Amino acid sequence: MVRRSQVTGCGSYLPARVMTNAQLAKTVDTSDDWIRQRTGIRERRVAEDGELTSDLGLKAAREALDMARLEAVDLDLIVCATSTPDETFPATATRIQAELGMTGGAAFDVQAVCTGFIYALAVADNFIRLGQARNALVIGAETFSRILDWTDRSTCVLFGDGAGAVVLEGVDCAGNSEASGVLSTHLYSDGRHHDALYVDGGPSSTGTVGHLRMEGREVFRHAVVRMVEAIGAALEANGLTPSDIDWLVPHQANLRIIEAMARRLNLPEDRVIVTVDRHANTSAASIPLALCEAVRDQRIRSGDLILMEAMGGGFTWGSALVRW
Ligand code: ACO
Repeated sequence: MVRRSQVTGCGSYLPARVMTNAQLAKTVDTSDDWIRQRTGIRERRVAEDGELTSDLGLKAAREALDMARLEAVDLDLIVCATSTPDETFPATATRIQAELGMTGGAAFDVQAVCTGFIYALAVADNFIRLGQARNALVIGAETFSRILDWTDRSTCVLFGDGAGAVVLEGVDCAGNSEASGVLSTHLYSDGRHHDALYVDGGPSSTGTVGHLRMEGREVFRHAVVRMVEAIGAALEANGLTPSDIDWLVPHQANLRIIEAMARRLNLPEDRVIVTVDRHANTSAASIPLALCEAVRDQRIRSGDLILMEAMGGGFTWGSALVRW
């Protein structure tokens, strides 16, 4: 039997509190102009005190399950991508599992920073292809506001909080190459780039949570090259060219990076889903948030070919190709 993971539901959640560039400019030496010009970001969402990554992920998960018309008991796998877990352990996925009322199967987190959703999707897809899971929930959920140094203008203006989720259901697609679902995933990492993007804390190093540190220019320099590589691998593996792609759903770090990607692929602006202006960089949550927005407003339709790509701390990077 040839199995494929069909995406049968998606959901998203953003904390209610909006923080605009102008509000930020009251506390750090920055301006709306600078942030918009360099990044395309206008505002971001920030979780309330006591609003945890699992709370955000749970709301996105419930919406995704509703759309898929599945109950939590139908799930046998939850993979949650996050770099901002509720606690060092247990996995945030297990908290979400308990809140949903799913008692069987497995739930665990994966950590690949901004590439987290692609990694989690790949893991769940492989479980389904192998027959080790039937129905999986893949979540990207983050509260980056908790690991930002709010006095460092070079990083604190770039990130936001949020969550997105998709439901994958295993289907037999033997003999149907046009069947919808995850067509391929490609994952990469290169740990030599640690110093360009990391958090200066952790349970076994400092015993503190720490703050995000980044050499923005260095990350920017690598981002486009790496993501173009990952996209090339996705196209090649499926015998496709850029003109076959209906939608690019990129990680939302910076509008300039997104535009550079679209140019390299020769994709017109209206085939690229952009949310970075309103969400900023929500790390592992950014792709499912963007995907879900475009599904809800019916830009993405049944049969469309969707290319997702991301790059993040590690460095990690990767791509996923999905037929909706
Ligand atoms: N407001 C005003 N000025 C600022 C700000 C700010 N918020 N931040 C930096 N500056 C200043 C700098 O101090 C510098 O001033 P100087 O020239 O007097 O020294 C000047 O602006 C230019 O700084 P650069 O860092 O060179 O600015 P750049 O054009 O590279 O833009 C940015 C910075 C937006 C961070 C860009 O490099 C970028 O987007 N990089 C990629 C980041 C990214 O995608 N990160 C996420 C990866 S995903 C993950 O895993 C978390």
